[in-house]
Amino acid sequence: MKPISWDGRQLRVIDQRLLPVRVKWIDLNGAEDAFDAIREMKVRGAPLIGVVAAFGLALELQKKDSSNLEGLKTEAERIASRLNAARPTAVNLKWALDRMLETVRRSTNPDDCRNEAIKRAVEIMEYEEQTSRKIGEVGEPLLEDGETVLTHCNAGSLATVDYGTALAPIRVALKRGKRIRVIATETRPALQGARLTAFELMKDGIDVTLISDTMVGYVMSKGMVDKVIVGCDRLLSDGHVVNKIGTYQVATMADRHDIPFYAALPWSTVDLTTPLSEVKIEQRNPAEVELVRGRRIAPKGVKVFNPAFDITPPELVTGIITDRGMIYPPFRKSILEANERGLSRPVVARRV
Ligand code: MRU
Repeated sequence: MKPISWDGRQLRVIDQRLLPVRVKWIDLNGAEDAFDAIREMKVRGAPLIGVVAAFGLALELQKKDSSNLEGLKTEAERIASRLNAARPTAVNLKWALDRMLETVRRSTNPDDCRNEAIKRAVEIMEYEEQTSRKIGEVGEPLLEDGETVLTHCNAGSLATVDYGTALAPIRVALKRGKRIRVIATETRPALQGARLTAFELMKDGIDVTLISDTMVGYVMSKGMVDKVIVGCDRLLSDGHVVNKIGTYQVATMADRHDIPFYAALPWSTVDLTTPLSEVKIEQRNPAEVELVRGRRIAPKGVKVFNPAFDITPPELVTGIITDRGMIYPPFRKSILEANERGLSRPVVARRV
């Protein structure tokens, strides 16, 4: 289920806040629409917000009929910095905007600048679609016929352009005839697991069972989980996995029960420069915790803490499934090697 469409003129996205009750497509016409869609989580998921930001910038430049190239370039820098602030944790946003600015800075006249910006946004969208497929191919051998995979949040088609990251190996395994079941955590407070993962898997006829976040330890202790695969919003150079709040708890439980824990991500999610101490964890509106789908569940005025992401340390991560192949410990070394080798060498997953 693709959450984004571009027909060469109009950008449209599914408003994910309304899923699974309603599938409503909305038009995004420029940078402010893109900013609002990302900030308000009409679109979400690390790769998808990068793609939407890239289009937001490109579409905004089309509106500026300036014949002043330098003015256009200055405007592009301003728009990119605004879009980048929409959500601070997923590095894909910066990754996509950096690529857009690279294109803008290279352009030699205003028309070229506007045209090339659209082309680059399309390229970024296609890149994210292709990397999802590659992640599926790379991760599929990890899964054996009859296994159950637990996933957290939504790292499926709805978080990317198509196919997903964490869900991609499952889709490929099913295509190859393996019987794979999925356990999806509900993922409080925004409920991406219940609303989005359960929805997209059921739509595709994939066997999914929904549990609340509090049931992770129980299902693992009962032997109901063979592997964990989650997505990622930022992979640090030493293997720390920044992902949806609750991921760290899932990884800790998996470790306790000797269940392999994998993160799946495209290379656009890798951040080789930011140290752990400087990762900005997005704090969201307390209302997300106080209310459930608009209904109050906590007393008015209660103090609320609402970080949207947490950080899983490398020692809890069995392997990382990427479009550049599998990455295993020691992560600092293997992440650098994968960065240098690019896409040239095929890497095969090994079973644990
Ligand atoms: O707050 P969200 O819904 O944008 O968070 C999404 C996640 O944490 C996903 O696991 C992550 O972006 C990986 S998406 C392929």
